Amino acid sequence: MRDRFLRAGRRAPVDRTPIWLMRQAGRYLPEYRALREKYDMLAMCRAPELAVEVTLQPLRRFDLDAAILFSDIMIPLRGMGVDFEIKHSVGPIVANPVRDRRDAENLRVVEPERDVPFVMQAIRLLRRELDGKVPLIGFAGAPFTLASYIVEGKPSRDLLRTKSLMYGDSAAWHTLMDKLAASVSAYLLAQIRAGAQAVQLFDSWVGALSPRDYRAYVLPYSKKIFDALSATGVPRIHFGTGTATLLELMQEAGGEVIGLDWRVPLDQAWDRLGDIALQGNLDPAVMLAAPEIVEQQTRAILSQADGRRGHIFNLGHGILPNTPIENVERLVEIVHSFVVETLR
Ligand code: CP3
Repeated sequence: MRDRFLRAGRRAPVDRTPIWLMRQAGRYLPEYRALREKYDMLAMCRAPELAVEVTLQPLRRFDLDAAILFSDIMIPLRGMGVDFEIKHSVGPIVANPVRDRRDAENLRVVEPERDVPFVMQAIRLLRRELDGKVPLIGFAGAPFTLASYIVEGKPSRDLLRTKSLMYGDSAAWHTLMDKLAASVSAYLLAQIRAGAQAVQLFDSWVGALSPRDYRAYVLPYSKKIFDALSATGVPRIHFGTGTATLLELMQEAGGEVIGLDWRVPLDQAWDRLGDIALQGNLDPAVMLAAPEIVEQQTRAILSQADGRRGHIFNLGHGILPNTPIENVERLVEIVHSFVVETLR
């Protein structure tokens, strides 16, 4: 198997810097958009054959070093009793948001084999299809980011309802976070049992919090998940955006790899965190620019990594729907042509 992604996750030496892209299966691909004309996004997540097809689409075009299961962070929530849809160009909309203690107490803990068997089925099929070519990444939303959708009921800029619950009814908050931590742990363990070779925990919106509040209201729950996975030995990636002031605390919560957005220079993150692998961190907006700019910015990140062990190249957040295919091709070429001798 081409295992440079897994090796980098363990900070072992690699021949080339591995690269994969968040949302690599998605709307910037014409073949994805063609399937979406026929099927609803959630229907595609729930049909293993379709999820497998979409997962493989970017790998047919680009020389990527990992596959990520096509799914969504919202998928396990129906098993908890959260009723949602995903609105095109908007995001998740929850019909029955959690607003008080009783709502939180009424949530169930996910039982993956009962609630989302199609996810494990897709993973098993994918492992067969990938046939050891590249590793398969499983994923889940982190408790805070999931809580933000469950409480707000829709994407929100300031997360005021989420914070109101957190500060205003801490018993309700801790009940909600406890159930999410138990659900996500079970969900990721089931993915690993089905064959996921690495996992990423997406705490996309946690940058809304101060370090103090992260420690009090979030860290224990994310840590529970990382602790639950540690015996599996699979590389665990801990990603968030807007996390410049939270990186040390995210490291404390867990993960072999910290996923950075574009706001933190890689070398500064390494100075702060020490011996850990880092994933990132090209601004996805750069991918909309001319190829020369993509090249220049990519090289800048590679030179910040400076051949240190444990760099996984990625964007700082998901690839944007209007990204030109040529820029993705160029990006992967540049990262892979970064010469071996410079890797130390
Ligand atoms: O990375 C991959 O290729 C795997 C697939 C994946 C999707 N969502 C597919 C998707 C992954 C890893 C996610 C995670 C996800 N979903 C996150 C965390 C990552 C991040 O970007 O911060 C979040 C916050 C969500 C919730 C969500 N789902 C949003 C905000 C949206 C976008 C809404 C829109 O239309 O702009 C979705 C929908 C979604 N998830 C799409 C895809 C390909 C687009 C759906 C479509 O085809 O209309």
